[in-house]
Amino acid sequence: MTETEREPIEALCDQLDTAFREDPRGKAVASLLEAYAREHSDWEGFRHFQEGAYTRNLVRRTEDYELLLLCWGAGEESPIHNHMGQRCWMSILEGEVEEVHYKRQEDGAGPLIEGPTKRYKLGQAAFINDDIALHLVRGADGLAASSLHVYSKPYDVCLVYDLESGEESAKTLSYHSVEGVICGAEGSV
Ligand code: SIN
Repeated sequence: MTETEREPIEALCDQLDTAFREDPRGKAVASLLEAYAREHSDWEGFRHFQEGAYTRNLVRRTEDYELLLLCWGAGEESPIHNHMGQRCWMSILEGEVEEVHYKRQEDGAGPLIEGPTKRYKLGQAAFINDDIALHLVRGADGLAASSLHVYSKPYDVCLVYDLESGEESAKTLSYHSVEGVICGAEGSV
């Protein structure tokens, strides 16, 4: 990968730096991600699939946000998880991505309540936080896909949920690659 090919994703990082500095709520983030996903392909330098689990590939991490490329192999999905009070934006780079929403029972005990399943195509952006729902993410129709995610602020541990019992447990998040270099982590939440 040449320096020139990396420029658009570096420019996106610069735009995200500015966007969060100017507006900590991140109002500009969805449109920045959509525009990048529709127009550029230099993200391929951060694209790593592995057998058996989706991968989390770090592009940039600052105090305000982290930008990750997630690669969903055929049939792979995240656990049902929360976002630790942070905000999560996603845009689709290749394939189509499905997101299933869940809610906890009012008293927090018993099976999770399944909400809508949403489907996103190339260039579309989505947003979620803990007030909206818990969710799981996967390639649509069991097919492979890649998506770009911004978390603000970054976090290293999230809660994952058992669908049947509703029980939660803490899960440490890891990266499969950092700035394009595979770091040997498992790469899934
Ligand atoms: C997401 O929360 O959007 C995907 C799961 C992850 O970050 O590993």
